[in-house]
Amino acid sequence: MKFEQSRLLDGLPKQFFANLVAKVNKKVDEGVDVINLGQGNPDKPTPDYIVKSTQKWVADPQTHKYSLFRGLPAFKQAAADFYHKKYGAQFDPEKEVAILGGSKIGLVELPWALMNPGDTYLLPDPGYPDYLSGAALGKVNFVTVPLLAENNFLPDLDAIPEETAKKAKFFYLNYPNNPTGAVATPEFYEKLVSWAKKYQVGIISDFAYGAIGFDGKAPVSFMQTPGAKDVGIEFYTFSKTFNMAGWRIAFAVGNQDIIEALNLIQDHLFVSLFPALQRAAIDALTAPQRDSAVATIVGRYEERRNAFVEAAEKIGWHAFIPRGTFYAWMPVPAGYTSEQFADVLLNKAGVAVAPGNGFGTHGEGYVRIGLLIEPERLVEAVNRIGKLHLFD
Ligand SMILES: Cc1ncc(COP(=O)(O)O)c(C=O)c1O
Repeated sequence: MKFEQSRLLDGLPKQFFANLVAKVNKKVDEGVDVINLGQGNPDKPTPDYIVKSTQKWVADPQTHKYSLFRGLPAFKQAAADFYHKKYGAQFDPEKEVAILGGSKIGLVELPWALMNPGDTYLLPDPGYPDYLSGAALGKVNFVTVPLLAENNFLPDLDAIPEETAKKAKFFYLNYPNNPTGAVATPEFYEKLVSWAKKYQVGIISDFAYGAIGFDGKAPVSFMQTPGAKDVGIEFYTFSKTFNMAGWRIAFAVGNQDIIEALNLIQDHLFVSLFPALQRAAIDALTAPQRDSAVATIVGRYEERRNAFVEAAEKIGWHAFIPRGTFYAWMPVPAGYTSEQFADVLLNKAGVAVAPGNGFGTHGEGYVRIGLLIEPERLVEAVNRIGKLHLFD
């Protein structure tokens, strides 16, 4: 028998980076020692205290039953306490916190839960490609808002046409930013809250890299902004903060109508998460080792950023210095498109990078470097690229 996929699935965006993975695998099969800077998967293990806590909870039969649909009250309380202590923002754990199997789920289900076919929302360009899956599943339209180097990769709210702002229902933002490594400022977020109120646009802050800030500066949470809870929500994932990308655990905090809609759609899709995982997540957030474990993770990325940026400067390749995340957003030399440049690096230097156009039209002219290997290998990658004399 042959089965056709639904029209809904036909509308899903193609996975741009599948092509890159295929090219890299081919080179590896040919025996090339590829230095892969194209990925976004944390390379180090989850901190030991979280692994040990999980082992303990997995052995407890109480965690083997169905979870409450909307997750353990103690986990929602721990999430609310975490935000209160860290960002001074207060949330009612039952009404203003939603538990998620990774933040990607929340980002993708949100249009489905809160918009109607034909509605419009705003997405950053360049931006995390999976935002587009939500538009396809929710059958909604999106308008992209450019993130430009001259604005430190923050959207210029004054440049969003009045008509677009008026018809938009939501605006997705992501700082610290994938792919550019830019961070938001309190002033920008204050302006964003006023803009959101003026045009009645819900703000969806994707704080996936919320823990990863450099130069002694912790990234600003949107929820620190006065009035933020009134206009939006923030997604917080364990994937990057605690190297837990494979565990699939996150939460959202903020406006209770948005949280209720996310919880409602999830009542029909999931039975929350494995209770042992939720218990381990509470321990991840509350254990005394938390801050030192996170500091080790962040310190490692900062060391890699420094090594990479310094080596790149030496070959005349000037970075937009990343202030957070584990990415560097690097310009493409004149005469190449992002994809052509990425191909040259792979074929002539054995270095894989992610072409910027995969993140949107305004990603053209850049490539994204993942700082997910040790500093020596990053420097070796830059030295191999230097030998091509593309920046002389
Ligand atoms: C900007 C951004 N948002 C969300 C996610 C998804 O994270 P999670 O593992 O919580 O689904 C990622 C993962 O790479 C990301 O880069």
